[in-house]
Amino acid sequence: MQLHPWCYRMNPEKMICPCYKITKGDIIRAIENGATSFKEVKEAIKVGKACGKCKDKAKKFTKKMLND
Ligand code: FES
Repeated sequence: MQLHPWCYRMNPEKMICPCYKITKGDIIRAIENGATSFKEVKEAIKVGKACGKCKDKAKKFTKKMLND
């Protein structure tokens, strides 16, 4: 999976899921490691699997990364 260079210009330390301390960078890494959907990202790094509050944000971010 090739990500656009602009993906790396954002702050990868930005927290998406405080429950599991998952950052934008973690989601990007999951995609680089082969995840091709939000479901696969979720399976790989557990994002959204505790309280679920981050789900929408994480999903939107993942979709954005996968579509570009
Ligand atoms: S903030 Fe992600 S599961 Fe709670």
